Amino acid sequence: MMRVLVTYGSKRGGTEGIARQVAEVLRTEGLDAEVLPPGDVVDVSAYDAVIVGGALYANRWYRTARHFVHRHVHELREMPVWFFSSGPLDDSAAEGLIEPTAQVRALMEQVHALGHMTFGGRLEANAKGFIARAMARQRAGDWRDAGHIHRWARSLAEELQPGREESPVPTETELH
Ligand SMILES: Cc1cc2nc3c(=O)[nH]c(=O)nc-3n(C[C@H](O)[C@H](O)[C@H](O)COP(=O)(O)O)c2cc1C
Repeated sequence: MMRVLVTYGSKRGGTEGIARQVAEVLRTEGLDAEVLPPGDVVDVSAYDAVIVGGALYANRWYRTARHFVHRHVHELREMPVWFFSSGPLDDSAAEGLIEPTAQVRALMEQVHALGHMTFGGRLEANAKGFIARAMARQRAGDWRDAGHIHRWARSLAEELQPGREESPVPTETELH
């Protein structure tokens, strides 16, 4: 069974939630997917593929995701790697493809990442931090789209195991 690492840089937990959902889908598709925060990853080369997600703060990935890529750049360059970012606090990610930010694109180039997806984000009404609190007064909510995440994760599973029989697409109710 192929081993896939899903790791994430998340300040307030929203991106971690996406990473967990991605891993769950990969498992349903027959892959051995493990979710770990970057600091807990011991040996990247123990995996056959890596997915790295980063929360966007001022157009940059949250630092733990950036640092993970810098720390493991040599190993990552030799294996299939995909990135995801999260995320806009509106419907824009679900409505169309949002390109990676300049900084994320530069990280992708360093490891020759095969692809990238931007998912909607989440900001809780009681978010801590001066700027986050001010933002939350204008736009608190959860724009993480389970269907969007599911479709992307399935497409990666298909790339990793071409020709494998796919599991049935879940209904909207099953996704929530
Ligand atoms: C101070 C601040 C700056 C943000 N900057 C961006 C940004 O540049 N681009 C974006 O798409 N989302 C931005 N967001 C939204 C976050 O990316 C979103 O809340 C995300 O889900 C946070 O992930 P986390 O819960 O894993 O930390 C920002 C949020 C805050 C609080």
